[in-house]
Amino acid sequence: MSETDVLPSAEPASADPSTDPSAAAHARAIGIDVGGTGVKAAVVDLVTGELVSPRIREKTPQPATPEAVIETVGRIVDRLAEGGHLDPTMPAGAGLPGVVKRGRLVTAANIDKGWVDYAAQEALEARLGRPVRLINDADAAGLAEVAFGAAKGVPGTVLLLTIGTGIGSALLIDGKLLDSTEFGHVPYRRKDAELWISGAARERRAIGWRRWAGEFSEYLALLEKWFWPDLIILGGGVSKEYAKYGKWLKSRAPQVTARFLNTSGIIGAALAAGGHEEAPTD
Ligand code: BGC
Repeated sequence: MSETDVLPSAEPASADPSTDPSAAAHARAIGIDVGGTGVKAAVVDLVTGELVSPRIREKTPQPATPEAVIETVGRIVDRLAEGGHLDPTMPAGAGLPGVVKRGRLVTAANIDKGWVDYAAQEALEARLGRPVRLINDADAAGLAEVAFGAAKGVPGTVLLLTIGTGIGSALLIDGKLLDSTEFGHVPYRRKDAELWISGAARERRAIGWRRWAGEFSEYLALLEKWFWPDLIILGGGVSKEYAKYGKWLKSRAPQVTARFLNTSGIIGAALAAGGHEEAPTD
């Protein structure tokens, strides 16, 4: 693929305002997902969760300094504007792999350390010329799943884990997000869990799915001891491989895979921008 790609979306088909008059009236926001390998963005219908523009992706610049990433985001959003997908008042949300407080990252385990305390929200607002809201990437996935996916309408405590380069977490209590849980950094075998059992760690350690699932089950048991989730949702790249390890993965709570694999970050960031911090009530 070329450096800048317009990706097909595996998830629900886009609403077409020309054939669906209600689609045009729905609030929309730009969702941006900053990952370790790619920066992706699209316009999201906040009522249906559908992507209503192409999903545009560029490689994450290396090193992924705030300035370089923000320039990449700027180019992607310029392309959405050139395609006629934006209006000037449309807000944007950006999902990032770290704890977000007051428009800045305060941790950066899997992204350039230059992000820590950098005024990212302000810089993005200046580059994009619109209001921007930052959110943790796993929290964004949680918002997407509770609004439109596997956590929708599920009462009680839902634990979502995104398993990829790191391990991200979102904890939903009766549909409301408790943000910044950061369970990838829970101590497991005297290190942060994600250093042993994220998707990247599994590859680095060259361990098979059965062994990985055994270790991941121990980690789930640790979390279950404290939070007693009613449902565990597995997201991130590793959830696509569930068929290879699901039979060995044990937990007290039932497990399901996330509905959104490639677009949860985009959809959830857009929801955060639109001010949806909890599941729609309908
Ligand atoms: C970060 C989290 C993030 C997760 C997945 C972890 O290393 O601390 O904030 O959600 O990676 O990207």
